[in-house]
Amino acid sequence: MRTTLFAVAALLVVASAYPRGPDGRLLIVDDDHSFRAPARALNTLANHGYLPRDGKNITKMDIITGLFQGFNVGRDIGLILANVVFKKYGTNTVSLLDLQKHNMIEHDASMTRNDNALGDSTLVNATLLQGLFDSSSDKKVITWKDMVAYRRIRHADSKLRNPNFVWTEDQKKSASGEVTIFQLVFGEWSTGVALDVAKSIFKFEKLPLGWKPHAGTVLAIDVLPRQAMVALLMDSK
Ligand code: HEM
Repeated sequence: MRTTLFAVAALLVVASAYPRGPDGRLLIVDDDHSFRAPARALNTLANHGYLPRDGKNITKMDIITGLFQGFNVGRDIGLILANVVFKKYGTNTVSLLDLQKHNMIEHDASMTRNDNALGDSTLVNATLLQGLFDSSSDKKVITWKDMVAYRRIRHADSKLRNPNFVWTEDQKKSASGEVTIFQLVFGEWSTGVALDVAKSIFKFEKLPLGWKPHAGTVLAIDVLPRQAMVALLMDSK
């Protein structure tokens, strides 16, 4: 009996030291059979089971529900994002691997990956990732202003070195949306995202230990005006 109690207690200690989603979903990564995207936030959702863990046959409803349950992203903005995906792909389901397709949603001048013409655009490039973390002005949090500054550096570099550099209005919208929604989901707009939280998502694709989603649901009205401002600042001289 005592042995069983010890075993249960040990299991509880191990389980509590393991990253979980807001409703307790555990991190389980199946590297051999799963598809993953260049999108670290979506990979994080799949790793915790808020999207199909294998990253395959993802429906519009999966995206909307997954964003809501895992990140407390409102169904309004979830629908807007999911519509962009399915309009581009013209299918009923997508896989996370589909999202690697260059110049569909995946784009040049990523904060963390090589441009498609300059190397592997599917994996995180350690130097670029470090550049993103180093862009934190106070080395504690990464703010939207830090990210805008880093995006401008990345954009200038792509313009200089990538003979096939593509930067459309759609891609500018995506890039500004990524900065905005990342800040709103993982931090506070006025103070930024803690560096260890950013590392957990970008480097390990897992929710940080003890992480709780934003108390208020992140709605379209939170995202869209800020996204427009970020897009303007990414461009300004
Ligand atoms: C329908 C939902 C979403 C889809 C289909 C999607 C897809 C993608 C894709 C394909 C990329 C790669 C873009 C690129 O840099 O080339 C990307 C990047 C990114 N996404 Fe998402 N994403 C979604 C939702 C989110 C959410 C909810 C967040 C934040 C909580 C987020 C944060 C980011 C960030 C920060 C990047 C930039 C990564 C980088 O520059 O390397 N995304 N996303």
